[in-house]
Amino acid sequence: MPATDTCVRNARLADAASISRITDGYAGDGIMLKRPVENIIEDIRNFFVADYRGRVIGCCAIAFYTVNLAEIRSLAVLEEFRNKGIGRLLVEKAEAVLTEEGVKEVFVLTLNPGFFGSMGFREIEKEYFPQKIWRDCTNCPKLMACDEIAMVRYL
Ligand SMILES: CC(C)(COP(=O)(O)OP(=O)(O)OC[C@H]1O[C@@H](n2cnc3c(N)ncnc32)[C@H](O)[C@@H]1OP(=O)(O)O)[C@@H](O)C(=O)NCCC(=O)NCCS
Repeated sequence: MPATDTCVRNARLADAASISRITDGYAGDGIMLKRPVENIIEDIRNFFVADYRGRVIGCCAIAFYTVNLAEIRSLAVLEEFRNKGIGRLLVEKAEAVLTEEGVKEVFVLTLNPGFFGSMGFREIEKEYFPQKIWRDCTNCPKLMACDEIAMVRYL
């Protein structure tokens, strides 16, 4: 059972290519946005990875918006390791770090509301997060046809 043999740790530079492969694996289906490896390298300090016996099998990142508000993004688990509790471990790690920083509200934009619902998030209007819209959405190819659902959780 991988969850018992899996640790979630801060990502290292050497993990960037694995992270990129995992997220790209879902970009083809439009489930996630493609993140080029250079972009992941720039952001590596904000990433966590799930490490199963030395293999990176999942990832997620945090993004800070205000002292109270942050986002969990780029969450993905390799297909063959899904539904084994790895996604939960990654979200719990991200939330623990955000709580330590004093963040009060965490949001996600997702096509998978079922998973985040089971993690205690609830749906909310996207317009509740204008900071996100200013920072990322305006440059997103999906801007005018965004099908992602905004969800929030109070820490
Ligand atoms: C979403 C994702 C990260 C979840 O990771 P995972 O390791 O498969 O999920 P877990 O096994 O940790 O599931 C945790 C809980 O969520 C539930 N869950 C998982 N997917 C679910 C879904 N689609 N609908 C409802 N509940 C779901 C599980 O039943 C489990 O509940 P439990 O702990 O009460 O048993 C993974 O499925 C994935 O990589 N999906 C593709 C990329 C993606 O959609 N990323 C998120 C968008 S930002």
